[in-house]
Amino acid sequence: AGYWTYDPGFMVTAPVESKITFIDGGKGELLYRGYPIDQLANNAEYLEVAYALVHGELPNAEQKKAFYAKIHSHTAVHDQLRKFFEGFRRDAHPMAIMVGVVGALSAFYHEGFDVNDERHREITAIRLIAKMPTLAAMSYKYSQGEPFMYPRNDFNYAENFVYMMFATPADVNFKVNPIIADALDKIFTLHADHEQNASTSTVRLAGSTGANPYACIAAGIAALWGPSHGGANEAVLEMLDEIGTVENVPAFMEKVKSREVKLMGFGHRVYKNFDPRAQVLKKTCDEVLTALGINDPKLELAMALEKIALEDPFFIERNLYPNVDFYSGIILKAIGIPTSMFTVIFSLARTSGWISHWLEMHSEPFKIGRPRQLYTGETQRDFVKIEDRK
Ligand code: CMC
Repeated sequence: AGYWTYDPGFMVTAPVESKITFIDGGKGELLYRGYPIDQLANNAEYLEVAYALVHGELPNAEQKKAFYAKIHSHTAVHDQLRKFFEGFRRDAHPMAIMVGVVGALSAFYHEGFDVNDERHREITAIRLIAKMPTLAAMSYKYSQGEPFMYPRNDFNYAENFVYMMFATPADVNFKVNPIIADALDKIFTLHADHEQNASTSTVRLAGSTGANPYACIAAGIAALWGPSHGGANEAVLEMLDEIGTVENVPAFMEKVKSREVKLMGFGHRVYKNFDPRAQVLKKTCDEVLTALGINDPKLELAMALEKIALEDPFFIERNLYPNVDFYSGIILKAIGIPTSMFTVIFSLARTSGWISHWLEMHSEPFKIGRPRQLYTGETQRDFVKIEDRK
């Protein structure tokens, strides 16, 4: 024993077989269940994409209707869950709240839950996909000191999220801006899955112990929060704040090159040519900014940064291109979503992917995930009494 393959960062290790998502990082190719990401983002609604991730095929008209009806019947959360929100400080980060409340769902759906029962597993996927927008909007409303809005099932998935985020009970004539809802729907699709990324691997590892799936998804949310992963979209806006104005860009680039800071929203572990999600979103980004007539200096700064980085040899040599979160951060900012909600939106979108991986794992025999290590600590030595210790 002890002859383990040493692979920090899992650079060359594939611990699973999966039929869900295919990535060719060299070619910049991303397929969900075989369908190219740009075709899905430009033609399908997020819920159809979620169905495809869960079931393996895009739904036909009948399947779509039945799936949407199931989702709609599970959008509400138990009123008791409200108390969890109220237990947080009002300035708590919404991601901290999400880790807590999604984890708390495991207390609501634990008794009688059987991971070996396919119907139980399927209803879990429905519940999670249906409830995430509700929980995400509640985490925002709580931070604003505004009342929670109940989900409206006459809206589609993205519209309902916009409504729960931005309407108030006084707004009886609240209208969802279709530009905003469509952009969000695309962002949801583009973030829905990405094979064995850090958060999905976390969900699988937690799930491999047979743990409650809501707790597994909460673990995924925790992993997603970090700035190297889902927290990058928020970090992009923080970076823009730090840079301030276009004149400060060259000095900032010097700091990037001397490795003092990273250019957030650039680079990817797998995509070393371009990120196909970023290509779709760059176009959406241009469209949204034009349609909303936005003239925000921070967005101009982002565009200046993008231009310089794409032309600078430092970035070209290292194959560093804007990733999906560079543009999603800019779009979310433009449509009025506060920075602290960016990663929450990513977690909402990724839930369909996470639960598809969890379902895939449970649909066939699997082993508990249990990596080994190369031990580099002390060799055996004798116990020393406290009075004799140095
Ligand atoms: N800014 C400046 N230099 C960078 C950056 C960056 N964003 N990313 C990589 N590099 C440099 C890095 O310093 C290294 O240079 P050298 O070889 O001279 O030391 C070279 O590029 C290779 O980088 P790496 O760290 O080996 O790449 P990795 O595959 O381990 O890291 C990454 C990938 C995404 C963690 C990293 O590019 C990064 O931290 N990017 C910024 C954060 C970000 O935007 N993350 C979101 C990823 S997309 C959404 C998601 O999937 O969660």
